[in-house]
Amino acid sequence: MIFDDNERIVTGDYIEDDIDIESGLRPRQFSDYIGQSKVKENLEIYIKAASERKEALDHVLLYGPPGLGKTTLAGVIANEMGVNIRITSGPAIEKAGDLAAILTNLSQHDILFIDEIHRMSKTVEEILYPAMEDYALDIIIGKGPSAKSIRLDLPKFTLIGATTKAGNLSAPLRDRFGVIERLELYDTDDLVTIIKRSANILNVGIDDEGAREIASRSRGTPRIANRFLKRVRDFAEVRFDGNITAEIAKLALSSMEVDSKGLDMIDSKLILTMIKAFGGGPVGLDTIAAAIGEDSNTIEDVYEPYLMQLGFISRTSRGRIVMPPAYEHFNIEPPKK
Ligand SMILES: Nc1ncnc2c1ncn2[C@@H]1O[C@H](COP(=O)(O)OP(=O)(O)O)[C@@H](O)[C@H]1O
Ligand SMILES: [Mg+2]
Repeated sequence: MIFDDNERIVTGDYIEDDIDIESGLRPRQFSDYIGQSKVKENLEIYIKAASERKEALDHVLLYGPPGLGKTTLAGVIANEMGVNIRITSGPAIEKAGDLAAILTNLSQHDILFIDEIHRMSKTVEEILYPAMEDYALDIIIGKGPSAKSIRLDLPKFTLIGATTKAGNLSAPLRDRFGVIERLELYDTDDLVTIIKRSANILNVGIDDEGAREIASRSRGTPRIANRFLKRVRDFAEVRFDGNITAEIAKLALSSMEVDSKGLDMIDSKLILTMIKAFGGGPVGLDTIAAAIGEDSNTIEDVYEPYLMQLGFISRTSRGRIVMPPAYEHFNIEPPKK
């Protein structure tokens, strides 16, 4: 299979390849939702409090990079609250009327999940303000001077919004969320647990070292971990006896050009160019972008977050700098300052 730039095997975004495993592996309750302990702890308290008062849960905004479990968490919340969840997304709601129709069809305490909420249009967003604040829908009837605005009551519902770009949300929308939680990249131990759980569901044999080998290349992201597990499983079944060991995981992932830290060709090219052409920096984002032929926004939003998490590069006011762990990883002598 060939991946274009927007579909790197190491992307946290949902790709077609994920389709056959994603829904089966999705945790349904808190006890299966690994990691993110601070977020879980908070939400469990809010859920318990709302349930005891027999009220709807406060509106929740979940943000963080793709593949970390925002959609999954929305489902877990609905399940733990024992309510229905209606799933839609910012770009899918085209007209104000579409959202009005969804809202009026909700039942008491239901959850409305809006994915990519930062991509909702302004007119649709304005419908949400009174809906979130007063559980009301203001609709205009008629046209011109005889037009009248009437207010419809809505059931008390919970909006869960998910976004990868919390900064792109307007202040009035953000302020209407009572609970705002940021999901963090997962550490290797959590990813090991996730991979073992998934392997168990998929009925794949895997040893501890095999799980660790996949985890350490998964860029802190469960979706990538599951995708790699699936690929390694196929490799283990075709070439070996089907059980995943560290050796097999290494072979399979290297053949996909994913290195020991989960970097692919583009990540490597980025860092090696910074080292070889720019003495390790500081070098400006646009300069790097031009040098490797990539879009600077993509570098900033997609490539850099994980490289910074690894401590491989750092952003300074004078530009990007390659840090010592990157030199070590690529086995290059750092320049003497
Ligand atoms: N905390 C978790 N524990 C176990 N698996 C998880 C967890 N978070 C995410 N996953 C797995 O990763 C996949 C992607 O998660 P998803 O909720 O779709 O991410 P997002 O909505 O943030 O892009 C899910 O199908 C699920 O199997
Ligand atoms: Mg999602």
